[in-house]
Amino acid sequence: FEFAAPKNEPVLNYAPGSAEKVALKKQLAAFKAVEMDIPMYINGEEVRTGKTVNIHPPHERKHKLGHFHQGDSSHVQKAIDAALAAREKWADTPWEQRAAIFMRAAEMMATKYRAHMNAATMLGQSKNAYQAEIDSACELIDFLRYNVHYLGQIYQQQPYSPQGIHNRVEYRPLEGFVLAVTPFNFTAIAGNLPTSAAMCGNVVVWKPANTQVYAANVIMKILIEAGLPAGVINLVYTDGPTVGDVCFNHADFAGIHFTGSTGVFQTMWKTIGTNISKYKTYPRIVGETGGKDFVIAHKSADPAVVATALARGAFEFQGQKCSAASRAYVPSNIADEVKANLVKQVSSMKMGTTEDFTNFINAVIDEKSFDKIASYIDNAKKSDATSILVGGTYDKTEGFFIAPTVIETKDPKYVTMCEEIFGPVLTLYVYDAEKFEETLALVDSTSEYALTGSIISTDRYAIELATKRLTNSAGNFYINDKPTGAVVGQQPFGGARASGTNDKAGSAMNLYRWLSARTIKETM
Ligand code: SER
Repeated sequence: FEFAAPKNEPVLNYAPGSAEKVALKKQLAAFKAVEMDIPMYINGEEVRTGKTVNIHPPHERKHKLGHFHQGDSSHVQKAIDAALAAREKWADTPWEQRAAIFMRAAEMMATKYRAHMNAATMLGQSKNAYQAEIDSACELIDFLRYNVHYLGQIYQQQPYSPQGIHNRVEYRPLEGFVLAVTPFNFTAIAGNLPTSAAMCGNVVVWKPANTQVYAANVIMKILIEAGLPAGVINLVYTDGPTVGDVCFNHADFAGIHFTGSTGVFQTMWKTIGTNISKYKTYPRIVGETGGKDFVIAHKSADPAVVATALARGAFEFQGQKCSAASRAYVPSNIADEVKANLVKQVSSMKMGTTEDFTNFINAVIDEKSFDKIASYIDNAKKSDATSILVGGTYDKTEGFFIAPTVIETKDPKYVTMCEEIFGPVLTLYVYDAEKFEETLALVDSTSEYALTGSIISTDRYAIELATKRLTNSAGNFYINDKPTGAVVGQQPFGGARASGTNDKAGSAMNLYRWLSARTIKETM
């Protein structure tokens, strides 16, 4: 079965009075009216430990959304046992039957549970309605449908059989279980990492970030309702070291599908390396980690286009996208115009709760993140090399609010030009407009990461030069656009260097990693 290419799920606009807005408002109120009791899901059963962790909206600390039940190493062990018990039957389930479950889940997310998915993301992760819609509705639906399509294509790929021989390749799942560790910042990624591996016939232990559990619970319930058999995906809530300790010491550990920080990914890789002789098979290690994503404008650029790419690229979802623009290189000839336009756009961004749809900026995810971002801003205020063009204020009384902040620096290697901040902070450096080539070299050498980046220019030779010189600087390279917002089926997403293994999410390149092919030669 090869399934025809889907179309991207249309993005709804939530205009005042629209049916989708009415439904979303209703669901937000419904979620806020009850304290949700969120269990783990092991072997298709709800597991409650009584050891609970409270969940609050990052923009309204005093409100309690509910709590989740925290597990320990025994729950991780049970999740692995359940996965391994389900493995044979799942791996042997005909592909088109497996696909039907994920297509059904996508359909449910697009229709009767769209408001649930978005409301959970808006409350649990403090994403505004539009940012939730492109993530927890459209992107996740697209991941499910396109992965079904790509996997169908992979299964069709068969070798040549000369006369007298019949060759074939079976795309089997990995021998063991896959661990999916998912981040807070995209509900779509949280849904994609376990399902892409499971779709290939693998069984999965899924550990989301604590700050993502509220939406993860909605995803899991939809998968179960869509018919996912018990044990295929097991959702556990523990701290990272606990899940790692049990999984990475298990002989049947067959792979990790990870999105999160570079430091955690490297620690996991080292542990897996140390334990390598314990495993039945070499585990697949797939990770998308950090970014320090750039926008470089050429002297030919329209200042308004540059300013908009920066404002949108840096501050949507409070800059908490691994793809967010966080260092800008602006040529001297248009610098004044770019800065004035950028300051105007950023000053008009309203900040507050997600329930008020007029707010563009909401809260950052938690206190640890708030404190870290605030300290970068404080240091910039003290530095002689920098000035704050706009923003620079923060307040965590009601929620973790940080005003979108643009720092200008005279030092292109100033710390906020180099380190990932993961918050609403953009650093801008004005370069000599006649030194474009030198500045391209600077862009490439400034960061250890290589996730996303943009060139803004109306000069074709400048675009060509940037594309060539920045070959290894960004896994996703954008011409005349912001560096965020990759669309599944259109821009396969992922970066190299310290940004990850570049096994592009939402593409066949990623799915191959969850398959272990068996070649069969039969002589006629
Ligand atoms: N895929 C997202 C983007 O492109 C980041 O994870 O913005």
